[in-house]
Amino acid sequence: PSAADAQLITRTADFIREKFLHEGSGHDWEHIRRVWQVARRLAAQTSGADLLVTELGALLHDVADWKFHDGDEEAGPRAARAWLTSQQANSAVIDGVEAIIREISFKGLGVPTPMSSMEGALVQDADRLDAIGAIGVARAFAYGGHKNRSLHDPAVPPVSHDSFESYKQNTAPTINHFYEKLLHLRERMNTPAARRVADERHAYMEQFLQQFLREWEGEDVDSE
Ligand code: ADP
Ligand code: NI
Repeated sequence: PSAADAQLITRTADFIREKFLHEGSGHDWEHIRRVWQVARRLAAQTSGADLLVTELGALLHDVADWKFHDGDEEAGPRAARAWLTSQQANSAVIDGVEAIIREISFKGLGVPTPMSSMEGALVQDADRLDAIGAIGVARAFAYGGHKNRSLHDPAVPPVSHDSFESYKQNTAPTINHFYEKLLHLRERMNTPAARRVADERHAYMEQFLQQFLREWEGEDVDSE
């Protein structure tokens, strides 16, 4: 990247690190840092992706999540545009990053969320890889705890949400989140590079669930 691009990336990383350092809901700086790093690694395996837009998209993708802004889906795109404008980024870069943030979120199993650019495809894959595997398990329970959700309730069946409204209003136990979202992310990866990683993280998560449900009923303990 040019010196100016490298500087813009560094300033954006500093801005986001500062903003997210003390966030405890799973949307912390370390999540952003992992998404940034993984998006860069995926970009290196994918021809034709613009690295500046990919990196800025990764750094800014959670800048103002609807979950923490009264459901306002425009808060994120608006905040990213404001930041990049203040940094005199060129308008094609701003448009590209803004589109990524508008399109990236999961909105329920029944709601397609296609990305309109290669850079967006990479950032969405990186964000979703961070929602599965060992980190994904940890983040799901961190989020559930933050929202006071129970771990599991066998009487509450998983639901496939067909609209963003019903997905947003979901308050089910955290185990349901695996069936309503996390176990489906592997199938929704955009790039072959991410799909390969997702296969391994998915298998790990399935193993976790199997063991969790066995322990839930004490089935791993001999009864005689
Ligand atoms: P995305 O980045 O795909 O939009 P979210 O921002 O919805 O994902 O979720 C961020 C993190 O919080 C993820 O690790 C996700 O699994 C977790 N999370 C979101 N909703 C729930 C929920 N209802 N129960 C448990 N974890 C959740
Ligand atoms: Ni994210």
